[in-house]
Amino acid sequence: MHMTESETRPDISLAADLRVSPDDAPVAPDVFTVRNLNVFYGDLRAVSDVDIDVREREITALIGPSGCGKSTVLRCFNRMNDLIDIARVEGSVLYQGIDLYDPQVDPVAVRRRIGMVFQKPNPFPKSIYDNVAYGPKVAGQKGNLDEVVERSLRSAGLWEEVKDRLKSSALGMSGGQQQRLCIARAIAVNPDVLLMDEPCSALDPIATGRIEELMKEIQNEYTIVIVTHNMQQAARVSDRTAFFTAELDEGTGQRRGKLVELDDTGTIFSNPADERTEAYVTGRFG
Ligand SMILES: Nc1ncnc2c1ncn2[C@@H]1O[C@H](COP(=O)(O)OP(=O)(O)OP(=O)(O)O)[C@@H](O)[C@H]1O
Ligand SMILES: [Mg+2]
Repeated sequence: MHMTESETRPDISLAADLRVSPDDAPVAPDVFTVRNLNVFYGDLRAVSDVDIDVREREITALIGPSGCGKSTVLRCFNRMNDLIDIARVEGSVLYQGIDLYDPQVDPVAVRRRIGMVFQKPNPFPKSIYDNVAYGPKVAGQKGNLDEVVERSLRSAGLWEEVKDRLKSSALGMSGGQQQRLCIARAIAVNPDVLLMDEPCSALDPIATGRIEELMKEIQNEYTIVIVTHNMQQAARVSDRTAFFTAELDEGTGQRRGKLVELDDTGTIFSNPADERTEAYVTGRFG
């Protein structure tokens, strides 16, 4: 099945206002439905039998010890694992009901809809303006891009800081500004989803706070999946949290990433169902 620009998403904002009590609160529709996901790097099964649902316009955090497969799972959401030669993905990753791994699906179109922000800010060695205008240009948008550049920089909370130096190099910005620029660049192509892999780990606490505020501000418009090692961050920003662990497989001696549980963030941090989650979030493990 092909993805078309005319697909619309249901407006859930009204339904949320009609909420009567938490028990019958409407549940946001799923943007991603992942079933039986297994990811291999050559002979290594890095991620084993993961089922995960990501709800629309929520922030979903992926947490867990190093090597448990968080980045690997995140990359399945926009087919970034395609770019790794030895990676192989099995199982189903449905986005808005469409199988992202269907041979008819164009991975470039997928990445336009589902943008990504990386751990280390990676602006292009171009001007601030050109960084943001790049995506729309590549997507064939003609004419004056001033408006989309301003709108994207505003959304990323960066406009006031850079409006007088749009033509200067992005490489002259601070790390926090560069990361917000990367978010502006991702937003400029009007995606549905933002995937963020430890977006604050190279930033100081003030820059981190700005990114967290920004995430909360834009979550009405975007579905966000964030990988973070910072549990306070997961607790502060996310609606739901998925805890992963790496389990030793007796047969092969390999460590495999597994999803332990996915629940409301409050539940994961205060009353998780699984004792491994509890040990991790209370700092007794990992
Ligand atoms: N490109 C790759 N080639 C080979 N193995 C890989 C590759 N990327 C990840 N792996 C392996 O897959 C497993 C999961 O890695 P992944 O990077 O997804 O973990 P992670 O949870 O994101 O860890 P971290 O918290 O350290 O970022 C690890 O055993 C890792 O060594
Ligand atoms: Mg990682």
